[in-house]
Amino acid sequence: MSEIDVCVVGMGYIGLPTSVVLAGTGWRVHGVDINEHVVEILSQGIATFEEPGISVALKDSIATGNLTVSSSPLTSDVYIIAVPTPINEENQPDTSYIKSAVESIAPLAKHNDLFILESTSPVGTTEMIRDILLDIRQDLKTAKLYFAHCPERVIPGSMMKEIISNDRVVGGYDAQSAELASNLYRSFCQGEIHQTDARTAELTKLTENSFRDVNIAFANELSVVADHLGVNVWEIIELANKHPRVQILQPGPGVGGHCIAVDPWFLVASAPGKSPLIRSARLVNDSKPGFVIDKIAERIRKSGHSSLAVLGLTFKANVDDLRESPSVSIVEQLASEFPEVAVSVVEPYIKALPQTFVAFDNICLATLESALANEQLIVLLVDHDIFKSIPHHVLFAKDIIDTRGLWKELGV
Ligand SMILES: NC(=O)c1ccc[n+]([C@@H]2O[C@H](COP(=O)([O-])OP(=O)(O)OC[C@H]3O[C@@H](n4cnc5c(N)ncnc54)[C@H](O)[C@@H]3O)[C@@H](O)[C@H]2O)c1
Repeated sequence: MSEIDVCVVGMGYIGLPTSVVLAGTGWRVHGVDINEHVVEILSQGIATFEEPGISVALKDSIATGNLTVSSSPLTSDVYIIAVPTPINEENQPDTSYIKSAVESIAPLAKHNDLFILESTSPVGTTEMIRDILLDIRQDLKTAKLYFAHCPERVIPGSMMKEIISNDRVVGGYDAQSAELASNLYRSFCQGEIHQTDARTAELTKLTENSFRDVNIAFANELSVVADHLGVNVWEIIELANKHPRVQILQPGPGVGGHCIAVDPWFLVASAPGKSPLIRSARLVNDSKPGFVIDKIAERIRKSGHSSLAVLGLTFKANVDDLRESPSVSIVEQLASEFPEVAVSVVEPYIKALPQTFVAFDNICLATLESALANEQLIVLLVDHDIFKSIPHHVLFAKDIIDTRGLWKELGV
């Protein structure tokens, strides 16, 4: 007999919204996290990150008793794994969090249980989960167990809406697993449920983010080529996109975040030597921050600026997420290469600079007003909406490096 209906392992950006939406649908949900601080905060009904709608939904779920949170799993009929899947220094997938998650729930597993992997993973990971579980619980080798991969495609800033409205791909280890997992997602998902096998679902998720990465790499490479030729890349893209079948994305200072900058490496690792294009796209995007640093360094050396303002630090516009942000590495490298140059960082979405900046006494957090009043060299790294409101007459008088094309009409 199960204590609850669904046990969600990993209460981060994916596990938390999934848990509160399931709890709001009426399921008895238990969330598990190895981080005691996360458990303590969530148990009080306080969300660990900002996301529209999540605070109210979390408070309601805790108040109704449909959601409980602790550091250990409870006996359940369904287990959802939503733990991190990073890459290591050699860009190889690190599935150790998934292995630990499976080890923690294995003692509770029983006949007819459903195990769902939501973490973005290399192809074959759903099968790996089954292997690990049955290795630990040899007594369940003849039991009927169900395994599925149901990847997430929500966008930060709109997670609570998209978790309900997006279509879902549900890949089963076998047809019954796909059917059972689909039933769970149908209980709250208004988008279509697309059933397939687990390996197809795993590769579909990796394909989505690899497609984005390759297309961004094209735009980034184009920006380097245009710069070399002294041609305005924003104008090139605007004109090329007048072609009815061309749709080039916008270049930037690099690719960040925990998905697009990471997931293509899972695809590369899943079929070693078979994806030179996707691998090259990763390398092109990873090289873009270096190009931006060279541009800033050239400007500092030429003009003799002793200080500058950097606008934006997050990995994309209008979010507070700094994970894998190219802007963070650009600022760090700049501060280390030019210790005599003061770098004022304007980032309205954070209250304090990242811990890694403590090593540099030439970086400070500044307001937009003070940066515009005091700095001559302005480097735009993130196209937050608030930066769009800077009057052009203020910018005319400045030395500008615009990596996002926010002020393309100024011809910078
Ligand atoms: N954040 C997104 O927008 C997004 C979108 C699609 C897919 N994903 C994928 O979802 C997965 C989770 O990502 P996230 O952003 O939620 O990560 P996250 O870092 O925000 O949260 C993961 C949580 O899991 C906890 N954890 C780690 N190991 C654990 C264990 N053994 N038992 C219990 N808890 C454990 C961590 O303490 C952390 O709180 C990743 O594979 C990611 O690639 C994320």
